[in-house]
Formats: sequence, C-alpha cells, structure tokens
Amino acid sequence: MRLTAVILVGLILAVSDLALAAINGDEGFGPLVREESRRRTIVSTESGVIKAVDVNDGYGRAGVYHLQFMTMEPDTLFLPVLLHTDMLFYVHTGKGTVTYFSEDGETDEIEVVRGDVYRLQHGSTFYVRSHPDPTRQKLRIHAIFDTLDIDNPLGFSVKPYSYISDLVRGFDEKVLQKGFAVSEETIQSIKRVPTPSPLAPFRDRSENGESNWKEQIIEALFGVRGSTDSVNKKKSTKTKAFNFLKAKPDVQNHYGWSIALTHNDLKALKGSNLAPYMVNLTRGSMMGPHWNPRATEIAIVTRGRGMVQVVCPSDPSGEIGDAVECQNTMFKVNEGDVFVIPRYYPMTQISYNDETFVFVGFSSMARYNHPQFLAGKRSVLQLIDKSILAASFNLPNASVVKELLTSQGESIMFACTSCAENLEMRMEEMQRQKQEEEEKKRAEEEARKREEEAKRREEEEAKRREEEEAKRKKEEEARKREEEEKKKEEEEEAAKRREEAKRREEEEAEKRREEEKRREEEEARRREEEEEEEESRRKEKEEAIREEEEARRREEEEERRRAKEEKQREEAEMRRRKEEEEERRREEEARTREEEAKKEEEEEEEETRRGEEEARREEEEEEAWLIGEEEAALSP
Ligand SMILES: *[C@@H]1O[C@H](CO)[C@@H](O)[C@H](O)[C@H]1NC(C)=O
Ligand SMILES: *[C@@H]1O[C@H](CO)[C@@H](O)[C@H](O)[C@H]1NC(C)=O
Repeated sequence: MRLTAVILVGLILAVSDLALAAINGDEGFGPLVREESRRRTIVSTESGVIKAVDVNDGYGRAGVYHLQFMTMEPDTLFLPVLLHTDMLFYVHTGKGTVTYFSEDGETDEIEVVRGDVYRLQHGSTFYVRSHPDPTRQKLRIHAIFDTLDIDNPLGFSVKPYSYISDLVRGFDEKVLQKGFAVSEETIQSIKRVPTPSPLAPFRDRSENGESNWKEQIIEALFGVRGSTDSVNKKKSTKTKAFNFLKAKPDVQNHYGWSIALTHNDLKALKGSNLAPYMVNLTRGSMMGPHWNPRATEIAIVTRGRGMVQVVCPSDPSGEIGDAVECQNTMFKVNEGDVFVIPRYYPMTQISYNDETFVFVGFSSMARYNHPQFLAGKRSVLQLIDKSILAASFNLPNASVVKELLTSQGESIMFACTSCAENLEMRMEEMQRQKQEEEEKKRAEEEARKREEEAKRREEEEAKRREEEEAKRKKEEEARKREEEEKKKEEEEEAAKRREEAKRREEEEAEKRREEEKRREEEEARRREEEEEEEESRRKEKEEAIREEEEARRREEEEERRRAKEEKQREEAEMRRRKEEEEERRREEEARTREEEAKKEEEEEEEETRRGEEEARREEEEEEAWLIGEEEAALSP
C-alpha cells in the first residue's frame, strides 16, 4: 500500500515537468510559503505583538487575504476595533475573552481556548482580553481577513479594522459630550491623553485610577451594561467557539485526522466566504493528492514540519502568458509558515518520519467545495474508464491503473514513510542543480560581462589612444600651423621691412631727385635770371648803340635836311633871281611891246589882253610849281 502511494507521487512527478518555484516568493506563483520572519510587525508593545502578512490567491491578485498573528501577554487588552470585513480566527495558545457587538445588535462574550475557531462578521466591534495565567502562557490568535470584501470607495488602502478610540476621538468634544451624554471631564480625559496603544495591560488601567473610558464609550455606543436607553439594550448571549482539538474529526485513521468546518458545525460561519479546516498528519504520513475545485487554501503550520508538493494545473512551462508564472513546485514548511494552494492545483502534504505535521487553514468558498482525491476509494479517477485512464497515463494496460485505484483503500491519509525526507532530498538536489545551473549561468554571465568589460575597456583604451593620437596630431598640426604662421608673419614682417626700406629708399631717392630737380631748377632759374640780366644788359647796350645810331642818323638826317633846305633855298634864290630877271626881261619886253602896242594899240589890244592872260596863266603855273618845290623841299 505504501509502495503504491510512493508510485503515485512519482507518477505525479512524472506526468508533468517538475520545476521548483521560488520559495517564499512575495509575488508570482500562488503556492507560497511565508516564514514567520517575513511578517511585518504592525504593533509591538510590552503587552504584545501583532504581525501581518498579505497573501495572494494564486491568480495574480496580490493581497487578497490579509492574515494577522496576534500575541498577547496574559492579562492584556486588545482595544476595541470596528471590523471592516469578515474575520476568522484560530486560537493557537492561551486563553481569553473575545467580546463583540454585531451589527444587528447582538452582544457576545466568547471564552476562547487553544484550538478554538470563530468568525466575526464585518461591521462588528470587538475587543479581546487575555486571561491572567499562572503559567504566563500567551494568548496567540491567528486571524484571516477577506480583504476582497472591503469596500474602498475612496481609494484609500483600508485596514481590516479601525480602533474605536480613533473613530470617537475624531469628533469634536461637544459632539462627544452631547452624543454620548457623558460628563465634560470624561470627554476631556479622552481627548487629553495620547492615542493609546492597541495592546495595553488590562489590570494597570483599572488600578491607576484612570477613567475606564473605553468601557464607558462602548457602553454608550452599544448600550451594554447600565444604559438607561431601552433601545440600545441588547440581549447578551454566551456563545461557544468551535474547538478543533475537542471535536470529532471528519476523517481519522492511523495516519492522522482532518476537519473542515461548515456552518453546520459552527453557526457563526453562515454566510462566510471562508471556512476553517485543520489537518494533523502523524509521522511519516501523507495527505493524498487532491485538489479543491472551488476553494483556495491558506494554511498556517501550527506544529511540526512537512513537505508540500503542488502541481500546476495550467501550462507548467509557464509560457501561456499568465500574469503569474505557474510552476510545479515542492517546498518544505516549518512551524509558523503560511502556504497557499490555489484552487485546481493538485497538492499533497507529507509529514516527516519523526514529527507530526499539523496545520490549520482557511479555505475560500467552503460551502461548495468538495476536495477531489486522486487515489483510493474516493478518487475521481474511479469514475473514468480504466483503459482510458491507462491511455491517459500512457500505460500499456489497465492493470497498473486498477492497482492504483484499488490498493489505496484509505483515500485521504495514508502512510508514506520517508516520503518527506526523500522529497526534501530531491528538492535539495534540484535546488542544488538549479543553484549550480544558476551559478554556472551567473559565472557565464560574469565571464561574459568580464569579457564585455575587457572588450569595452579595450575599446575604450583604443578609443582613448585614438583620441590621444588625434589630439597629438591636432596639436602637432596646430604647432605646425603656428610655426608656419609665425614664419609667414616673420616673412611678412621682413617683406614689410624690406618694402619699408625700399619705400624709404625710394622716398629718399625721390627726395634726392626732387632736391636735385629743385636744385637744377633753381640753377636753371638762376642761369635764366643771369641770362636775362645779360640779355637786358645786352639789350641796353644795343639800345644805347641803337639810340646812338639813331641820334647819328637823326643828325645825318638833320644834316641832309639842312643841306636840302640849303639847296632848296639856293634853288629858290636862283629861281627868284631867274624870275626877277624874267620879270625884268618881261617888263622890258612888255615896255617894248607896249611901245610897239602903242603903235598897234587898236589892233593889238586883243593881243595884249591875250598876252596878259597868258602871262597870268604862266605865273600861276609857276607859282604852283614853286609851292610844290617848296613843299617837296620841306617834307622830310
Ligand atoms: C496530532 O496527532 C498526534 C497523533 O495522534 C497527537 O499526538 C497530537 O497531539 C496531535 N496534535 C494536535 C495539534 O492535535
Ligand atoms: C499488463 O501489464 C502487466 C505488467 O505491467 C503484466 O503483468 C500483465 O500481464 C499485463 N496484462 C495484459 C492483459 O496485457
């Protein structure tokens, strides 16, 4: 029989590729383990500690379930809180009283002991008091809250409960005083003190004389004890929790027992989305492979240790694009660990040979959930035709399958000696392999990185060298350019200097030429002036000569004129004398003729007149001639 069970486990291992999920992973794969050390502390005082952990449901919805682990010293009060959602709790150790006031006005006081489970409905207000205990045993409560059920219209992250004191203290003093109809001092005493710690010693508060305002408030709020208002007066009943340890188990055999609660077992469960269950596997036993068609199981290990194996019902390669990776997995759980098995995930829990393995859990949708077992009389496989089943396992004939289903009479819990140990060894082996693989991969990765780094460095070095070379070249070029420029500058300078010199030379030459020219011109001018002077002197001389000559000529002319005048005068004298002689000869002729004329007077009168006229004419002609002669003589 044991052998068959081992075969079956092996079968499950063989049916799917087995891979190991990340143990204690915060996200990803559904079946996860949360160690005690991974819980976050939300309250920690001398009176106790409250730790919390959020788990997802294996379908990628993170924080769907909120678990709290409350540890209270003896005689401690957990201050009243208003529940925002259903709370199921299990009492792990110790004793205490849970007082609650339900929405519909019921008041209950439950005495709780180890093994008790109970459900408090959302909207309830409750507080817890741990009893004084001579052995100083702590009251330990494991609670689960269905956070999917929390209304969150304003988008805050809402806690599963809030402290009544916070709710009350938020109001104005006057409102409180009127609303609660209590004394001003009471309200002020509430307002004055700082917000109390949620876990406080119970006795201290009543001893140190402080007003027991919390009871007052609660009384006022809910009309418990001594309220005069009859409307608020509610019936108080004494309810009992369900105790796993005292109840008769659903299944019990040599290998352990298990109980799953329904509202038939605990009235308080009516309407709850969650139902508690508990499993006690004795040493070297196995909870047969099964799955929950409707429920997700959230389990807390309360005692011992065990191995859990979970098979992914989806594509085990995790490659179908699920939000979370679905992997076959096995893991070891220790006391205090939390593990979650999503619905449809076939699982098995196995205890070690030396220790019982006890876990308490909460399953969702418990009302309709009927665990489906693979092996034994209750196996769902019994319903399937054996040959088809054989084919589905790829077995040659149905005899093995038949054996599988008939050998395990006890279908739920059976012996599995050293199964947990072997599984752990395999797990460790696989972990080692995986680690080695990872190590190898890491080493390869590192080698690759180193190589890349080396390459990168080399490239960088090359680049650096290149850059340096380029820089050097550039500098060289710059230097050359500078030198060339300098040279050019110098040349230009020299050229300039040469030009300057040339220019100066030319200038000087020009100057000299000009000077020369000037001198020449001056010389010329001087010479000219001299020449002019000479000329003028010469001219003066010539003038003088000419004037002399002129004078001489004029003298000569004068001489000639005088000579001419002399000649003319002589000629005129001669002519006058000739004329005078003529005159006298004519007068003698005229007297002779007159004498003759006297003789011929009558005949000659005409002759005479004609003669006279002739004479006159002749005279005139003479005169004219004389005048002309004179004029000719007179004209120069
Ligand atoms: C579990 O079962 C074993 C064996 O029957 C028993 O000794 C042990 O006390 C049980 N543990 C709990 C927590 O019930
Ligand atoms: C089925 O297989 C088993 C061995 O696994 C063998 O002993 C048996 O004879 C086979 N039966 C038939 C009908 O083939």
